[in-house]
Amino acid sequence: MRNIAVFGLGFVGLPLSLTYTLYGVKVYGVDINEEYVNRLKHFETHILENYKGKTIQEILRESIEKDLFIPTASHEEAMANVNEVVVTVGIPIVGNTVHTEVFEDAMKTIGRSLKKGDIVLIRSTVPPGTTREVALPILESASGFKCSRDFYLAYSSERIAEGNAFDEFQTMPIAVAGVDEASTKKAKELLKIINKEVIEASSPEVVEISKLIENSSRDVNIGLANELATFTESLGVDTLEVIMIANTHKRVKLLNPGIGVGGHCIPYSSKYLFYKSDRIGVSMPLLHSAREVNDSRPEVIFHLIESNLAHIGKSIKDVTTALLGIAMKDNSSDASESPSLKLTEIIEKNGGKVKWFDPNVNLNLPSRVFSLEEALAGADVAIVPIFQGNVPVNIKQMQKLMKNSPLLFDAKGIIDRKSAVDCGFIYLTI
Ligand SMILES: NC(=O)c1ccc[n+]([C@@H]2O[C@H](COP(=O)([O-])OP(=O)(O)OC[C@H]3O[C@@H](n4cnc5c(N)ncnc54)[C@H](O)[C@@H]3O)[C@@H](O)[C@H]2O)c1
Repeated sequence: MRNIAVFGLGFVGLPLSLTYTLYGVKVYGVDINEEYVNRLKHFETHILENYKGKTIQEILRESIEKDLFIPTASHEEAMANVNEVVVTVGIPIVGNTVHTEVFEDAMKTIGRSLKKGDIVLIRSTVPPGTTREVALPILESASGFKCSRDFYLAYSSERIAEGNAFDEFQTMPIAVAGVDEASTKKAKELLKIINKEVIEASSPEVVEISKLIENSSRDVNIGLANELATFTESLGVDTLEVIMIANTHKRVKLLNPGIGVGGHCIPYSSKYLFYKSDRIGVSMPLLHSAREVNDSRPEVIFHLIESNLAHIGKSIKDVTTALLGIAMKDNSSDASESPSLKLTEIIEKNGGKVKWFDPNVNLNLPSRVFSLEEALAGADVAIVPIFQGNVPVNIKQMQKLMKNSPLLFDAKGIIDRKSAVDCGFIYLTI
């Protein structure tokens, strides 16, 4: 039986580990969060995924019961049993500061238990140059080994979208490059167990940068749609209709605007590029602009709501807002960098009260409530920022529970405008 270790059991690492177990590979899943590892041992995770009619929790249980998945906080246990190590530990960003030490610590830990012949495959999203300039020297100094002679090192970008991870680990074409030919070959073998479309690149730097620009290109395209929306909203012109008409041009493909761009993938990618571009003195103004446009969306939406409240003699200070979803995107349990969280902060900073409800997100904040009814009861404003399938928004229920002259900002166009207006709502959408 083939044994591998996966370091980091988050939104990528856990479903990736379990996908390998579906192919009969035994996976030692290592995470430094011991409490989380214990929960995994009891088949519990906050991650929302499913595959072929089974939830990730069911797949987790089956893999553990078959002794194919071993969640552990002990890197020694994992490293002693494997020759192939996959790294999915992230590089956090706080404000604009890139905290590479989290990733570096993982490299030190792996390096200390590295054995001759092992391969380390990095699948985290990283600033350009990380594989060769950061991981390689740390692994060498922690192990006392020489890369390309005693151990192997490669980088492969991770392209999955949360919610579709099991499927995309197997079907999304994946790029890889090692620091040498042997590393590339070993990494390809490991990837090919679950994914048949493995694309070989000439260097880890090519794959690192292509991953970042894939995400940043989405930031730019979403930024364009968001900038358009800010313009058309101010004119009172239907943004989605403008986009629909523009997209009838055969070579135009505008994306839909939203309340901002959350999660780690897209915002962090541009910041990892800036981390490197600043060091080499190259400016990337377009990517900076896209970041600014997308970051400012919650503020823009706040002002739109504020000015519409003013038309009916209400002030944000006196109103309660029901926010129906706090995750960073549709049907997600991930609230990292969530525009809805930013919107909550802006409303509260301006003296308003927010009650948010999102059964998918386990985040304990004073503004959290635990039912849709509780969120809507006595609210003046309802915001539907994303589509959460298990938050059944219904205009009649809103009308019944909310105060008089309610305002609805429906970012997803889930509720029919006419029904909302007939129920006495001021209806705003993107
Ligand atoms: N979430 C996505 O959809 C997605 C998609 C593509 C790429 N990525 C990239 O994949 C990486 C992982 O993302 P994620 O969303 O799974 O992150 P996450 O925060 O959900 O999970 C990371 C896990 O790593 C653990 N960890 C931290 N240091 C560790 C160490 N030294 N040893 C072992 N475990 C350690 C943390 O406790 C955490 O559980 C990031 O680089 C991210 O940018 C994520």
